[in-house]
Amino acid sequence: GDVAVLVPAAGAGVRLGPGVPKALRPLAGEPLLVHAVRRIAAAPSVRTVVVAAPAADVELVRTMLAPVAPVLVVSGGADRQASVAAALAAVPAGPEIVLVHDAARALTPPELVESVAEAVRAGHDAVIPVLPVVDTIKEVDAGERVLGTVDRSALRAVQTPQGFRRPVLAAAHAAAGDPLTDDAGLVEKQGVPVVCVPGSELALKITRPFDLALAEHLLAAGA
Ligand code: C5P
Repeated sequence: GDVAVLVPAAGAGVRLGPGVPKALRPLAGEPLLVHAVRRIAAAPSVRTVVVAAPAADVELVRTMLAPVAPVLVVSGGADRQASVAAALAAVPAGPEIVLVHDAARALTPPELVESVAEAVRAGHDAVIPVLPVVDTIKEVDAGERVLGTVDRSALRAVQTPQGFRRPVLAAAHAAAGDPLTDDAGLVEKQGVPVVCVPGSELALKITRPFDLALAEHLLAAGA
C-alpha cells in the first residue's frame, strides 16, 4: 500500500444532539469511528491510518481501535483543519498519497477509498468524490428572502475521502489561514487543480439524528 488515511474524529457533534463526541456515538452497537476505520483498513492500498481523536479520549480510542486495524492515534485540534494538520504531522515516511476522511462518513465503502487513491496515482494532485445536487438551491439574505436560484447543474455535493499527493497536502496545510471545512479548499487556494470522481451515497456524513437512523437501516440491510 502507498496510501495513508487521516481520520479527523475530534469533533463534538453538536448537531447530533447532546452526548459523547460524534465519532464515538454508537451505530448498531459500535462507535461510528470503528465502522469508518474498519472500512478504510479493508481498502488494499491503505498502509497507514492516523486518527485525530478528542484530546480527552486518545487512550480510549487507541484501545477501541486496536482490535479493528493497526492505527496511530493523535490528539485532535480546536477545529477540523487543526485535527487534520495534527494527523498529517504523524504520518511516517513512506506513503506518497494521503487521503483525508471524516469519521462521520462511517459507511464509506472501501471501493471509494480505492477509486480516490487510484485517481491520485494516475497523476492528479487532488481528488474529491462528489454527487450531483438533487434539490433546487436558492441563495437567501439574512431575512430568508430569496436572492436568486443557483444553477444546480454546475454544483456538486462533496464527500470524503479526499485524496492528495502528499507534498501538495503538506504545502496547503503549511500555508493555511482561516479554517475551512475541507482540505480540497486549502489546496484550491494554492492554485492546484482539484478533480472530481463519482462519490457514493453510502459515504453520507452522519450529522443529524435522521442520518444516524438511516445508517442503522442501511447496516441492517447489509451495507
Ligand atoms: O462537524 P463536522 O461534521 O463538519 O466534522 C467533520 C469531521 O471533522 C468529523 O469527523 C469530526 O469529528 C472532525 N473534527 C475534528 N476536530 C474538530 C472538529 C471536527 O476532527 N475540532
